[in-house]
Amino acid sequence: MPLCLMENIRKTFHTGAIDVEVLKNINLRLERSEFVAIMGTSGSGKTTLMNIIGCLDTPTSGRYVLADKEVSHLSDDELSVIRNEHIGFVFQNFYLLPYATVLENVLLPTLYIEKQKDNREQQAVDLLQLVGLKERIRFKPNQLSGGEQQRVAIARALVNDPDLLLADEPTGQLDSKTAEEIMNLLREMNTRGKTVLVITHDQNVAAYAQRTVQIKDGTIIE
Ligand SMILES: Nc1ncnc2c1ncn2[C@@H]1O[C@H](COP(=O)(O)OP(=O)(O)OP(=O)(O)O)[C@@H](O)[C@H]1O
Ligand SMILES: [Mg+2]
Repeated sequence: MPLCLMENIRKTFHTGAIDVEVLKNINLRLERSEFVAIMGTSGSGKTTLMNIIGCLDTPTSGRYVLADKEVSHLSDDELSVIRNEHIGFVFQNFYLLPYATVLENVLLPTLYIEKQKDNREQQAVDLLQLVGLKERIRFKPNQLSGGEQQRVAIARALVNDPDLLLADEPTGQLDSKTAEEIMNLLREMNTRGKTVLVITHDQNVAAYAQRTVQIKDGTIIE
């Protein structure tokens, strides 16, 4: 079984009297350990799709199987359990807690799960070493460069040992050299066995992926 299997996924938002159909009949399959890029113009539905893949939202209709479990119709509580177990998120704006240290930021997702209660601080430190920030663990986010902040976010995304790393425009705030470093880091995580899905507008970023999925007006055009 693939890690993610989507069949005939549709998503409609109801705003006031208007229904907006944002995703139309999406069929998508992600194999374990793949590195895939999603590209498409602004408003084409990329983030909406990623939110469903990441169990932050549910489809209006269709079937979504993640890690052998059908998740299309789960409640918010059930989804958050699945999310904490299987998914790590990286965002364009990093979303670090400003008053928490680098180490505390990385530890944050571990507060919500039961497994691996022992040594999680050591695991967080090990991850920070892996992303090259061992010397910065007591720093606050505003004492770091943008690229360093994104490295913290990547360590945080990995701390619960997810199967799938989802990154929505992870290099959108970074200069091209720093973007390259971040993409090399995501590639390394992929080499270590993580499935990586990156949303990007940038052809250079998509070039790191093994394949690119094109989305247009809520439909995959490949
Ligand atoms: N919660 C919502 N309620 C109503 N409409 C929404 C909602 N979320 C997204 N949309 C609409 O869905 C469409 C797709 O939005 P989405 O954020 O998925 O696009 P995107 O491809 O990620 O764009 P960008 O590249 O600008 O990030 C947009 O037209 C947007 O207005
Ligand atoms: Mg988006």
